[in-house]
Amino acid sequence: MRQHLLGIEYLKKSELENYLSNAEAFVEVSQRELKKVPALRGKTVINLFLEPSTRTRASFEIAAKRLSADTVNMTGSESSVTKGETLIDTARTLQAMAPDVIVVRHKESGVPNLLVNHISRASIINAGDGLHEHPTQALLDCLTLKQHFAAQDRPLEGLKVAIVGDIRHSRVARSNIWAHKLLGNEVRLIAPPTLMPPYAGGAGAFEGGVQIFHSLAEGLEGADVVMVLRMQLERQSEHFVPTIEEYIAEYGINEHILRRYAPGAVVLHPGPINRGVELSSEVADGPRALIGNQVTNGVAVRMAVLFALATGESAISEQESA
Ligand code: CP
Repeated sequence: MRQHLLGIEYLKKSELENYLSNAEAFVEVSQRELKKVPALRGKTVINLFLEPSTRTRASFEIAAKRLSADTVNMTGSESSVTKGETLIDTARTLQAMAPDVIVVRHKESGVPNLLVNHISRASIINAGDGLHEHPTQALLDCLTLKQHFAAQDRPLEGLKVAIVGDIRHSRVARSNIWAHKLLGNEVRLIAPPTLMPPYAGGAGAFEGGVQIFHSLAEGLEGADVVMVLRMQLERQSEHFVPTIEEYIAEYGINEHILRRYAPGAVVLHPGPINRGVELSSEVADGPRALIGNQVTNGVAVRMAVLFALATGESAISEQESA
């Protein structure tokens, strides 16, 4: 078993599929009256969130607790990072207390990869680093799609997946591109040229593996899945789009556009949503949105990842899930 989860880029298809099938087993635990299994009794998980988070942070904590692990939750403002302690010293200090897993979120790309060079014993899980990766988000997105298409007797491959919006600044997009390429899905990126990442075209990592569109109509045509990304409004001073109103007119996803170009598509959004900007409330709250399922599946996916890394086991026994 791999010791860390730093990104989907580093996984084989069989590893991704293994996480998904273990997560499916853990979905049922959250539906029980007593939502707890003994699988990680005696293990310690530290959640080190040095960038804001609602969904990821809460679901890692809930996941660890449902597995009976002991959990410690730290944010930037509560840690000695605010007193000038370096990230590596912080990680070494935490390691000295013998945790089994450290879950880290950071605004800078590459922080989890850096930590594995200085941490020998604990497993590191990337809970989102800068513009790099958000691997558990991609896993929960894939689990949500697997469940949805299984109900139609369709496999999680051969799908047309359109990723729309601020792809340039999105670690969710990067992790999902790696995941859907592994799974054998068609990946289309739809964004204005200023919000298309440099890695998408030319000699980038995804050369030939993704299709690039600047027209919403062309990119959405016949899509099975529309993954809408948050418009990172905090970056508007950098002038990536002329105005938000023009962005909404050209790239905003609403029911009218979907009915016309991708009538059968389901919609994902990693959250948090800017309602009325990248996604209309009619779609976000409507029947084609799987956004609530994504959040629910976040707990099961994080249980599967914590279980695999803390135990080194690839499959859950009946005893561990009972
Ligand atoms: N999708 C996601 O990472 O959301 P949070 O920032 O709330 O964790």
